[in-house]
Amino acid sequence: MKKNILDMLRAAGRNFTSGEAIAEKLNVSRAAVWKHIRALRNNGYEIQSSERLGYRLNSTPDLLLPEIIQHGLSAKIIGGAFVHKDSVDSTNRLAKKLAQNGAADGTVVVAEEQTGGRGRLERNFFSPREKGIWFSLILRPKCLPKDAPKFTLLAAVAVAKAMERFSLRAGIKWPNDILYDGRKLVGILTELSAEVSRVNYIVVGVGINVNIARKEFPAELQKIAASLSEVNGNKNLPRADFFRAVLEEFDTLYAANDFSEIFRLWREFNVTLGKNIRVISAETGDTFNGVALDIDADGALIVDVGGERRTVYAGDVSIRAN
Ligand code: BTN
Repeated sequence: MKKNILDMLRAAGRNFTSGEAIAEKLNVSRAAVWKHIRALRNNGYEIQSSERLGYRLNSTPDLLLPEIIQHGLSAKIIGGAFVHKDSVDSTNRLAKKLAQNGAADGTVVVAEEQTGGRGRLERNFFSPREKGIWFSLILRPKCLPKDAPKFTLLAAVAVAKAMERFSLRAGIKWPNDILYDGRKLVGILTELSAEVSRVNYIVVGVGINVNIARKEFPAELQKIAASLSEVNGNKNLPRADFFRAVLEEFDTLYAANDFSEIFRLWREFNVTLGKNIRVISAETGDTFNGVALDIDADGALIVDVGGERRTVYAGDVSIRAN
């Protein structure tokens, strides 16, 4: 109902729509229309009302509500199903629950704030209210479990391409952190449920710091975290528009399922290859230094370690001064 009323007000543009016309079209009472208008206002929509003329939508809040994000979203798979929470512990946790209960490929789970946002290696992820985009995608690709990490690189490329639309340059550190000035703008946590030879689902969780001023980060993050607003010359960005761009870019790459193209784009945005790096391998637990040479057909990182090539499938990489 809320969405139907919004659609009518949006279609009217700067003109007013009478309560009677809305009630008639949606087959509800005028009192019901009024109740929904009040609920929309509580969500932050500015709706002007005139006794004589009716209602006019003056502005839309910068929230990540389905009726805002899905409006004008051009996507085939991503965002068909959409779950929005004002507050949740972790969108990844909720997405996994929904996936276990059969949620569709491309389901979006997003929250205005996370109270227990999770990062890689069991770290916490700072996710303050309405300052970023904290979301998870449920994916059900037909692929082998070993292919799951590739979707992490896909997600990083999607965010980098969305940034490009806003004239913001991204640097991707292998596998998927997006950096600005060496500090993290975007973190991605991919989780997998699979049998030996079949993926049940993948949850790709993405945390984008959008409008967080440097001094708003907790002291321990100020040296290692950044926000898109900083890249944008300390000007805030519209979260809803940016989120729509990310979902569209993700959708295009996901629907095409062409990882050689995704890896080509990844190389274009990367800030790891050719650099001296330090690797903490997730497979062996050991730490070593080397030069990042390339990614292979699985998206794994090939490192030259004193003349010997090592392939890193999962781990933590830091870039050292060359
Ligand atoms: C990292 O850089 O360590 C990964 C951070 C991933 C954070 C996102 S925010 C949305 C989703 N929900 C979570 O709890 N984590 C991911």
